[in-house]
Amino acid sequence: MDFTLNEEQKAIRDLARDFAQNEIAPIAAKIDETGEFPYETVKKMGALGLMGIEVPQEYGGAGLDTLSYVLAIEEIAKVCASHAVIMSVNNSLYCYGLTHFATEEQKKAFLEPCASGKKIGAFSLTEPQSGSDAGNMKARAALSVQGDKYVINGRKSWITSGPVADFIVLFVATQPELKHRGTACFIVDTTLPGFERGKKEPKLGIRASATCETTYDNYQVPSFHRIGKEGDGFKIAMSVLDAGRIGIAAQALGIAEAAYEASVAYAKEREAFGSKIGEFQAIQWMIADMSVRIEASRLLIYNAALKKSNHEKFTREAAMAKLYASETAEWVTSKAIQVHGGAGYSKELPVERYFRDARITTIYEGTSEIQRTVIARAALDAK
Ligand code: CAA
Repeated sequence: MDFTLNEEQKAIRDLARDFAQNEIAPIAAKIDETGEFPYETVKKMGALGLMGIEVPQEYGGAGLDTLSYVLAIEEIAKVCASHAVIMSVNNSLYCYGLTHFATEEQKKAFLEPCASGKKIGAFSLTEPQSGSDAGNMKARAALSVQGDKYVINGRKSWITSGPVADFIVLFVATQPELKHRGTACFIVDTTLPGFERGKKEPKLGIRASATCETTYDNYQVPSFHRIGKEGDGFKIAMSVLDAGRIGIAAQALGIAEAAYEASVAYAKEREAFGSKIGEFQAIQWMIADMSVRIEASRLLIYNAALKKSNHEKFTREAAMAKLYASETAEWVTSKAIQVHGGAGYSKELPVERYFRDARITTIYEGTSEIQRTVIARAALDAK
């Protein structure tokens, strides 16, 4: 496996790094505290091509590969995990599905505005009673008698970017008796009547990314908004999540790297018992284990990215990358607080933010338990 970066990959990594340092770093702590959505910097990310990295240029994207996408998310997440998830949801959960399953006309109407960053896209699968058991959805779409539109009713929860989204990729049942085989995928235009945004979730971390419930009350959408065939919904959702999991793994990697780098710097500077704390084996071993886990995460993520770019099946590799990188982020950020001692527990330093931000990465886009299920099923060829 050759992970030597080409010129395009280096360029997008450097662009994301500079943008994160210059534009996001100055506001990261403040938006974590206030929970305000960073409209301005998200707009600028769109103008730089960071909101549709893998989308072909003819549909408003940057036309780059998956490793480029990973490198960009990693750099943004190192500075602010909220910006990274806003970016990941738009790139993977919204744009990926449209790039692969929409018709030419649908791409022009729904993909181009979000890939170019002019509009914001979100993804809507989870319901109050169904998170991990994603096929158990109650929201319904019924085809009108004339066959020209669908009427949608139901509730969806935990919609990342829901409070600000212009368009949402929505999964609902059309024939509930067929379970997951009776589901379909639609593009929701959030300006149409019948769509309501509910309560904004007060969250532990990624506080500047906005999350809410949404309701559909006789929401009418033209049939043109259906992506794929009736019955394809669940499979589209699963394949979109495969791609999304690489993005979340990259987000977790960026958070872990930030916590690691802060720990190394602190260990070189902080003194105790007349020595720098980095001279003590207790600290050295934490630093060593952090760096091994981060490196292993990186290799798993880059491997999944290459498989995806090479059009090989990558479900298992994406699950492995997401599982390992998210659990690494959780572990590394906790150890980073340990290295910092009391200072790490204070909001004066960003390590406590890294710790809170890391926590969601083992939950959204499939919990660690779901990733293990996917990996084990692939190994055992079982259900
Ligand atoms: N790609 C394409 N098709 C797939 C697939 C994949 N990766 N995985 C499964 N399928 C297909 C299967 O082949 C099967 O097809 P048939 O009907 O032809 O047999 C069908 O889908 C059903 O598959 P399963 O029987 O395996 O389905 P299941 O009910 O056992 O569920 C699961 C499998 C892996 C547990 C799945 O439900 C899952 O991934 N759950 C987690 C959901 C999730 O990640 N939610 C995240 C919400 S979004 C979010 O978090 C966004 C955010 O905030 C940032």
